[in-house]
Amino acid sequence: MAWRSRIVSTMRVAVFSSKRYDQTHLAAANANHDHELVFLEPRLDETTASLAGGAPVVCAFVNDDCSEPVLAQLAADGTRMLALRSAGFNHVDLDAARDLGLTVARVPAYSPHAVAEFTVGMILALNRKYHRAHARVREGNFSLEGLAGFDLRNRTVGVVGTGQIGLVVAEILKGFGCDLLGYDPFPNDEAAKLGVQYADLDELLAASDIITLHCPLTPDTHHLIDEDALGNMKTGAMLINTSRGALVDTEAAIEALKDGRLGHLGLDVYEEEADLFFEDLSDRVITDDVFSRLLTFPNVLVTGHQAFFTEEALTQIAETTLGNITAFSKGERSGNEL
Ligand code: NAI
Repeated sequence: MAWRSRIVSTMRVAVFSSKRYDQTHLAAANANHDHELVFLEPRLDETTASLAGGAPVVCAFVNDDCSEPVLAQLAADGTRMLALRSAGFNHVDLDAARDLGLTVARVPAYSPHAVAEFTVGMILALNRKYHRAHARVREGNFSLEGLAGFDLRNRTVGVVGTGQIGLVVAEILKGFGCDLLGYDPFPNDEAAKLGVQYADLDELLAASDIITLHCPLTPDTHHLIDEDALGNMKTGAMLINTSRGALVDTEAAIEALKDGRLGHLGLDVYEEEADLFFEDLSDRVITDDVFSRLLTFPNVLVTGHQAFFTEEALTQIAETTLGNITAFSKGERSGNEL
């Protein structure tokens, strides 16, 4: 009866926001699962939800709209599972999903190294100004004026959120000889063993030369870095956010950059990124003036949510996502349900 169990466990999966790289990795991982993957390029929202066409499983990414009206429409059409290709789930109305009987599963860990290594790269690039140096050399300008940075050795780095990614960031920066501070409501023994000294958030902000954010976005952490927090930082400090955009009040950060309190800002995520990131908008006018203002600063580096983007991470995301779907199809739990 092997054929019967195989048919029973095969699911039609509507994969929203699917780019070529998602399609390649999901198709490869699907060789071990045999689900029917329907790749849809549009972002999931109220206007595109009907494209799922009643697929029992909808697969979504970080900027897909998983609010109550969208989930209600999917559930009404027959969807029973939301399979997230991300660790973060701040974009999902979990209460609504529960009420609608939708199972939601995520990819809790894929490669903390991918995000951590990118974070450290951003620190180095901003400090030593690789982005400006590259542009200068291409123009035949070999002047070093304005490119001086600082040694990372003996600098204090504050890691906000010392979970999987924050811990790897701390490990890497320890190798640079940095002093490490941590803030996390649930301190991590491994981080403490590494030499991370836990402090409260205000102490960390006041003492750190570099602050890097690795906590989830929740109602409690929305605008964790606001005008007051920026005011508590050392003058000239560097702030890095590779976690979720709304952890930082962008307009307050712009004011702090303008008056020189904030020395460097590195963002891989932006609070209004859903209308921008992951698309080629190079032929269009960007109408978000806050975002556009960010791009005018010489000491700001913005990337389009790419910290996760390594082969290893894409492979792991695809394998875990399909594993979650297969478990659901068999009426089992993968352990990654929310
Ligand atoms: P994790 O769950 O292992 O660690 C998060 C840590 O934050 C936990 O230790 C938790 O106790 C702590 N935390 C919770 N509330 C906090 C608060 N108010 N202040 C300080 N710490 C707090 O998560 P992981 O895997 O390390 O990921 C962290 C975040 O990175 C995710 O929530 C996600 O938003 C973001 N991320 C970004 C990616 C990108 O491509 N830019 C890719 C993957 C994740």
